[in-house]
Amino acid sequence: MKKIRIGLAGLGVVGKGVYDILKKDAKILSLKSQVELEIVATSARSKKDFLDPKIKFYSNAIDLANDHEIDVIVEVIGGTSLAKDLLESSIKNGKKFVTANKALLAEHGAEIAKLVEKYDGHIGFEASTAGANPIIKAFKESFTSGEITEFYAILNGTCNFILTKMSEENSDFAATLKEAQKLGYAESDPTLDIKGIDAAHKLTILAAIAGATKPAFQQLHIEGVDEISIEDISLADELGYKIKLLAIYKKLGDAVQQTLYPALVKKSEKIAQVDGPFNAILSNTSNASWNMMIGRGAGGLTTGSAIVADLIDIACERKSPLFGVKFEQLREAKIAPISARVGRYFLKLVIDKNLAQKSNLAEKIFGGKIQVEQAIFKDRGEEILGGFLTDVQKESDLLETLKHLDPNLVKSAKFLRVEATGF
Ligand SMILES: NC(=O)c1ccc[n+]([C@@H]2O[C@H](COP(=O)([O-])OP(=O)(O)OC[C@H]3O[C@@H](n4cnc5c(N)ncnc54)[C@H](OP(=O)(O)O)[C@@H]3O)[C@@H](O)[C@H]2O)c1
Repeated sequence: MKKIRIGLAGLGVVGKGVYDILKKDAKILSLKSQVELEIVATSARSKKDFLDPKIKFYSNAIDLANDHEIDVIVEVIGGTSLAKDLLESSIKNGKKFVTANKALLAEHGAEIAKLVEKYDGHIGFEASTAGANPIIKAFKESFTSGEITEFYAILNGTCNFILTKMSEENSDFAATLKEAQKLGYAESDPTLDIKGIDAAHKLTILAAIAGATKPAFQQLHIEGVDEISIEDISLADELGYKIKLLAIYKKLGDAVQQTLYPALVKKSEKIAQVDGPFNAILSNTSNASWNMMIGRGAGGLTTGSAIVADLIDIACERKSPLFGVKFEQLREAKIAPISARVGRYFLKLVIDKNLAQKSNLAEKIFGGKIQVEQAIFKDRGEEILGGFLTDVQKESDLLETLKHLDPNLVKSAKFLRVEATGF
């Protein structure tokens, strides 16, 4: 049987997952691929005890790209410097490449797409986005009969786990993050997750494929979950909503919304019901209409399974352009500014109780500039905590109104966006 010789760069969570799958599932994999997938060399900062001693080990990952006995490099190191060097040398040396690295694709995608075409190379990156969910393949190779007009996605399991736990256990953000770290759902440095960067990288990749545009990570509006309080979650809950960190892609004429922010979603909507560490992608495609994929977004075997699926594609010589269309046909994305967003909003205001008269409070606060559809109030001694759902507003108008609220009456104001997916 023909062999594909693999160089595995990175032996951490995902690297070990790939190693284990190739070992334990060798039989079924060769049945599906008609080749033998064999790891012949590895690289990490330190050699691992679990490695078969017959497998070569390089402490410099770039050596894998120069090893003539390797056909495919699997990069699961992470980061954008060594991983980029490894990708470039591998492609230039005629090796196929499989990666789980969303940062690399999101931040250097256009350059990589150009390179891979120049060298007639092959890059698989299913594992970069939504873990075990085959969404890259679905976007590139399955939803091809029409246009992907919008999608709403939960792309970071850590954040979804934190928001779910906060809501279920009525616990604050800091305590819940600690619990997530203890359970292995959050990294010791959780910055990339909780600030939304990780999910925005994945959004960038999916948006590039959906719109046949160059990845536009630098232009995205990104908000994480680190400013979400238990008060926000409880008020939203009482109004009938959950808070989800949503990656949103929406065609708006010739522009496109590509944003990542925590949003209120009605509890009855399907995506609001995706709780815990799960990922979900709800997409709307002309002709095919709505579709939703749910599954685990992280973990050694789950992410490793997406890497191995890419290896099987290589074995079966299944290939498509990096972002679905050829590099010369990728357009620049025209990103709509967040200030132009038109939609509904959730407002949380701390109101002076002595100055407030509950009967026409919303009118008194907003002076008729914001129409309130639903409101709830909580007595907090000297203050009232108010949760308001507005009707449709332009974001720039909302900000202008909030800027001019009477500071004696309104002690503080915070807003979150409300999304209705229609599914
Ligand atoms: N973890 C997940 O569930 C998941 C899900 C989807 C995508 N990803 C992506 O997969 C990639 C890997 O993530 P991971 O969680 O597996 O990371 P990890 O557990 O931290 O493993 C990283 C591996 O890379 C090696 N490494 C780091 N710097 C190196 C260097 N300079 N030279 C050679 N090797 C080096 C490390 O070596 P040592 O072991 O010797 O330190 C380690 O084996 C990242 O791009 C990540 O975003 C991860």
